[in-house]
Amino acid sequence: MPRLAVLVSGRGSNFDALRAAIAAGRLHAEIALLASNRADAPALVRARAADIATFASDSRGSGDRAAWDRAFMAAVAAAQPDLIVLAGFMRRLDATAVAPWLGRMLNIHPSLLPKYPGLDTHQRVLAAGDAEHGASVHFVTAELDGGPVLAQARMPVLPGDTPADLAARLLPLEHQLLVAAVAAVASGRCRMQGTAILCGGQILHAPLQL
Ligand code: GAR
Repeated sequence: MPRLAVLVSGRGSNFDALRAAIAAGRLHAEIALLASNRADAPALVRARAADIATFASDSRGSGDRAAWDRAFMAAVAAAQPDLIVLAGFMRRLDATAVAPWLGRMLNIHPSLLPKYPGLDTHQRVLAAGDAEHGASVHFVTAELDGGPVLAQARMPVLPGDTPADLAARLLPLEHQLLVAAVAAVASGRCRMQGTAILCGGQILHAPLQL
């Protein structure tokens, strides 16, 4: 059974979606670790209640970024994951921390990458007047939200939408998207090769659509 390490910074609804999919037999994997860079992340409480191993180390005020990344990723590696899933993990890991996990680390991001890497994606979609918004799951590389995109979910932007409206409407799509993307990689169907993605042995020319 593929082992997942899930990294979160807060609420953890995407973590819950992974857990629910595993419980329902829709995702064949086990969560070996929930790790957080926030000691008070609500997701930690639910993981502990579900007997999932947890690791938390607050990155706020940690000073030496590289040292924190190294220690954090050492704790993650100790769980021997096959795949690391960044599910609302709001800290940028440096290139050295990411390098050993190239091809084995996924991130969910609330935009249609390559549009709007970074923060405040919902506001930026509205400011740009986009007709469409969505979420992406990509392989993590050293470039912020810049690795090859495996899968996307799309939705229309409606008249009068606020950033909160977009976030709320996108979240259930994110949950489905993350489960589908993790399943595709955990099962071995899709993998990263260089800057490309192979699914079923074929190069993926456009992200899988939910
Ligand atoms: C999700 O919307 C996810 O896409 C976003 O944080 C939220 C976490 O929600 N991630 C990023 O913005 C990463 N740059 P959750 O804690 O309920 O899963």
